[in-house]
Amino acid sequence: MKLDEVGRRAFSEISQADSPKRLEDLKVKYLGRKGEINQLLSEIPKLSKEEDRRQAGVLINEVKQKVEEALAAQDFKLRQKTVKEIKAAPFDLTEPGLDPESGSLHPLTRLREFTRDTFEGLGFEEVSAPHLDTDEHNFSLLNIPSEHPSRDLWDTLYLEDDRMMRTHTSNMQVREMRNRKPPIRVMTFDRCFRYENIDPKHSHTFSQFEVLYVDKGVSMGHLKFLSDLFLQKIFGEKTQTRFRPKYYPFVEPGVGIDALCPFCGGRGCKVCGMAGWVEIAGAGLVHPTVLKNGGINPEKYSGLAWGFGPDRMLMVKLGIDDIRHFNGGDLRFLKQF
Ligand code: DAH
Repeated sequence: MKLDEVGRRAFSEISQADSPKRLEDLKVKYLGRKGEINQLLSEIPKLSKEEDRRQAGVLINEVKQKVEEALAAQDFKLRQKTVKEIKAAPFDLTEPGLDPESGSLHPLTRLREFTRDTFEGLGFEEVSAPHLDTDEHNFSLLNIPSEHPSRDLWDTLYLEDDRMMRTHTSNMQVREMRNRKPPIRVMTFDRCFRYENIDPKHSHTFSQFEVLYVDKGVSMGHLKFLSDLFLQKIFGEKTQTRFRPKYYPFVEPGVGIDALCPFCGGRGCKVCGMAGWVEIAGAGLVHPTVLKNGGINPEKYSGLAWGFGPDRMLMVKLGIDDIRHFNGGDLRFLKQF
């Protein structure tokens, strides 16, 4: 009889179902609106005898109920199995999860953002210059002719096509002067490169914060005011700084800017190399030749420029003893800040 066949097939398939999805499919197949059992029910009216029709209805509903029970039983079995598997797992699924680690900004990035904000407030515009640049912009237009001994300060890596890794951010100066008219107030905070003997104070890759200000009557007074303001913002109100005469071919006069060592207060210690002061910038009034190279009349205008060493500044401020940490990518270093 067809009912027996359907029933047997249903029980066998249900007892073999090994996933909730398969069980759901079988439920639809047998008990669904168009399922096999409803199919059988719909055939009842075809029976001629009233007695047969009644009996068929009873039998089919019995099978239907059994199929429902079989589905429920198999569902229970599958759940039991899952629980067992979870309990047997070699780890504890009920243990709370790990906190996701949140990152933070690199100390140099933070200093860059702070510096930008500060100098934007003073009317300086941020610019950029190529990391791979020509000899012209890195050297000769800055009054450093080839063969000039001062080039020894800025040894770098050269490409075959005559370009070179810029040795300082000063390569932005003549570009910006040529593209603008005074008053010019520009800044850049970016990477430079040198062919260095690597040690705790020297890296092949480091940052500079360069400022160029050209206008009528720009003087050493402006330079002093701006650099003190900057240093006080970074190192605190009581910071002491000094200007020391220093030679750079692209300024006249030229100075080195030192900060009083915040660790020893000037007495001399390991951080400042017993000097009491830490050199953190080169600066000066833009050399007339450089102004001319930038298309600016040095009789009418003067300018100031500096290149601060943000890595050095952070080393002093945060007590970092090795410049190589900045690009080292060691998370133990970065997590301290
Ligand atoms: N470019 C110099 C260096 O890398 C630093 C410097 C000195 C920048 C004097 C200047 C400046 O803008 O006027 O050592």
